[in-house]
Amino acid sequence: MYTPKPLEKKITLPTLSQLKQQGEKFACLTAYDYSFARLMEKAAVEVVLVGDSLGMVIQGHDTTLPVTLQEIEYHARAVARGLDKTLLMADMPFGSLNSPQQALDNASQLIKGSGAQVVKLEGGINQIRTVETLAKYNIPVCAHLGLQPQSVHKMGGYKVQGREHDRAIEMKDTAQQIEQAGADLLLLECVPASLAAEITELLQIPVIGIGAGAACDGQILVMQDMLGITHGRLPSFSRNFMEQADSIESAISSYVSAVKNGHFPDASHSFS
Ligand code: KIV
Repeated sequence: MYTPKPLEKKITLPTLSQLKQQGEKFACLTAYDYSFARLMEKAAVEVVLVGDSLGMVIQGHDTTLPVTLQEIEYHARAVARGLDKTLLMADMPFGSLNSPQQALDNASQLIKGSGAQVVKLEGGINQIRTVETLAKYNIPVCAHLGLQPQSVHKMGGYKVQGREHDRAIEMKDTAQQIEQAGADLLLLECVPASLAAEITELLQIPVIGIGAGAACDGQILVMQDMLGITHGRLPSFSRNFMEQADSIESAISSYVSAVKNGHFPDASHSFS
């Protein structure tokens, strides 16, 4: 039984690769401010993401599309002050990566201005050149496949991705190309557990899942979902860890334990 203890060393990309090699799961959460970042650091969350989900859970928009680079930078700066050993990742918002050069300029600004160590970007084969460009300039990248909320209007809603045979083959191929292009991490959102397991096995780089089953190397949830304070319906892949906790701190700790022990996500929080 794993009980989280404080992180002993700074979490880096090589640390995450080592955890993958050792078969040890790692826990990630989104955060948007200093106070929650402190709690996550204390609970030994390995990776904190300042996601563009802030558009929905902080700003109250219907989608993530209105979020600006400056807003991500502002929140990431606050989160960075609350973290010491936890690795900080920040999202590239909609419209910030319309060309490799624009993405390079914006990612450089985000890293410089916020203290984030990794940028995350949504996109498949269309972003290969961007991933290559960022890698060439030593900007650590987490690519994001599967459900991509920035493409909600194209996809016609928030739906599980990769269920059809052809789409599954395409996602595996894209994941490999993204790795070859120099991505350091891959995030899979709302993907059938069996497909996510295959991709995790295929890639050398660590794979983080959200609604992507238990086989991914790491798991991430939106903080508001795991604390049960999301307005409206809780996504079916998420779990309210406050239900059995007497404080936010212990809810975060039980999430970390559940991920590390392989108890979360179970089949009822995964897609087939
Ligand atoms: O923006 C975000 O919070 C994300 C998570 C859903 C992983 O991308």
